[in-house]
Amino acid sequence: MKLTQTVQKGGCAAKVPAAILREVLAGVRFPPLIPGVAIDGTLFDDAAIFNLSPELSLVQTLDFFTPILDDPYDFGAVAAANALSDVYAMGGVPKTALAILAAPLAVLDTRVIQAVLQGASDKIAEAKASLVGGHSIDDDTLKFGLSVTGTVHPEGVWSNAGAKPGDVLILTKPLGTGTLCAGLKRGAYTQDQIAEAVASMKRLNNVCDVADTSAVSAGTDVTGFGLAGHAVQLARASRVQLVFDFKALPHFEQVWASLAQGHLTKAHRSNREYTMMELTTSGLSTAQEQLLFDPQTSGGLLLSVAASQAQALLGALQVGFPAARVVGEVHTGAGVHVAG
Ligand code: CO
Ligand code: CO
Repeated sequence: MKLTQTVQKGGCAAKVPAAILREVLAGVRFPPLIPGVAIDGTLFDDAAIFNLSPELSLVQTLDFFTPILDDPYDFGAVAAANALSDVYAMGGVPKTALAILAAPLAVLDTRVIQAVLQGASDKIAEAKASLVGGHSIDDDTLKFGLSVTGTVHPEGVWSNAGAKPGDVLILTKPLGTGTLCAGLKRGAYTQDQIAEAVASMKRLNNVCDVADTSAVSAGTDVTGFGLAGHAVQLARASRVQLVFDFKALPHFEQVWASLAQGHLTKAHRSNREYTMMELTTSGLSTAQEQLLFDPQTSGGLLLSVAASQAQALLGALQVGFPAARVVGEVHTGAGVHVAG
């Protein structure tokens, strides 16, 4: 059984569009914030921050989705890397994880579910964290993910609001998982044919393990809203303008062929609509614009870094993330501009 054929939408492309989410949330009375809550969901940060002491904060997040790959082990690994990523994207270190599993027990072999959990377990081990429990239900379609808790020093948090004019922007992984996984789901590619993207999605965003990240002033991971969507959220929260050099953006070799074949997701359109008011481009073709809206699953980190230390950080990062590039700058102003 090909896992991607058992669901309508896969991975982060299945995320509820931002406009719909905003409309839903606008109609809910949320509980007041208790003392200690430093970051909640207001500014679309990757995780919540709860201060335990002047030296220690909790980082809390959860992420789950439907199969994006056909191989159950790889799907579990990607889902885990994607969920762990939101802790790294706050500057934190993952400590414990709880599994979220919905599985169609009537049609899915036990060994498939075991493989999903094994893929996730091996990733959690690689992150030097522990799987400490979870919850499972019998459901029509397979869904899997993790709730992850990590720790961070309160002054070392990479919030979306921390980007400063003069900073340099670094992106750590290539773009294009959305269109390539759409092609996989349509049967245009086998998983082996998009092996580069699969390896990238399985890669932990543990930049703190490979580089001195003290020069990072803000960070987020590029996931379902695409580079454009997450950049807009960062620009909005930090009250700055992000300016990208399109030619510098890392992407998978096959993306242009895949986009030309029309391998798109619903998120390509909803991400365009979401960012319309705050994104400008110059000199880009329609296909090039689609790359900005491409929903990433377990995508790279977008880091805003003090300019004086950007080259040193990039050099260290490229040891573990060879596709990492300086992709733009932070200016005074508002919104996101991408120059071709
Ligand atoms: Co995130
Ligand atoms: Co997330």
